[in-house]
Amino acid sequence: MPRLSAAHRHRVGFTLNGKPVAVEAEPRLLATDALRHGLGATGTHVGCEHGVCGACTVLIDGAPARACLTLAVQLEGREVTTVEGLAPAQDRLSVLQAAFRRHHALQCGFCTAGILISLEAFLREQPEPSEQALREVVGGHLCRCTGYTPIIAAAREAAALLRQASQSTAAEPLDV
Ligand code: FES
Ligand code: FES
Repeated sequence: MPRLSAAHRHRVGFTLNGKPVAVEAEPRLLATDALRHGLGATGTHVGCEHGVCGACTVLIDGAPARACLTLAVQLEGREVTTVEGLAPAQDRLSVLQAAFRRHHALQCGFCTAGILISLEAFLREQPEPSEQALREVVGGHLCRCTGYTPIIAAAREAAALLRQASQSTAAEPLDV
């Protein structure tokens, strides 16, 4: 396929993990490639590249989306969160990430970024999820290491800790 000239590229500006960014994108460029190769957000993994495995899941304006089914130009003006944006500080994990670590909820880690993103969004919407609901969220992700049981345990613990934190009157952040 012939390469498109610079005239066919578009400057796409959006917010990535709280910071304004821009990439030059041909119309066909996928969001996964823009994030990984254009902006170095390599935590967004690419598995199937057709919307099945969930490894590429990111938040777009707070909603989970398959970055492999999204064109980079569709990110214009949006707020994008990748796994790199989940931790509250460089030396601090999110409540969910810390629960994953405690429960050994990752093995090779390839699927983990996408699962963390989906669960993070789900727990914001549904602070008191049933185990079945969590299973349905995680069911949208293929883990070839098959470690789903600790993932559900971690999600349940994170949900409980987040509820506890929201009920607490203490100003201190939750110690995870
Ligand atoms: S790489 Fe996007 S869903 Fe598999
Ligand atoms: S932890 Fe290896 S694919 Fe899920």
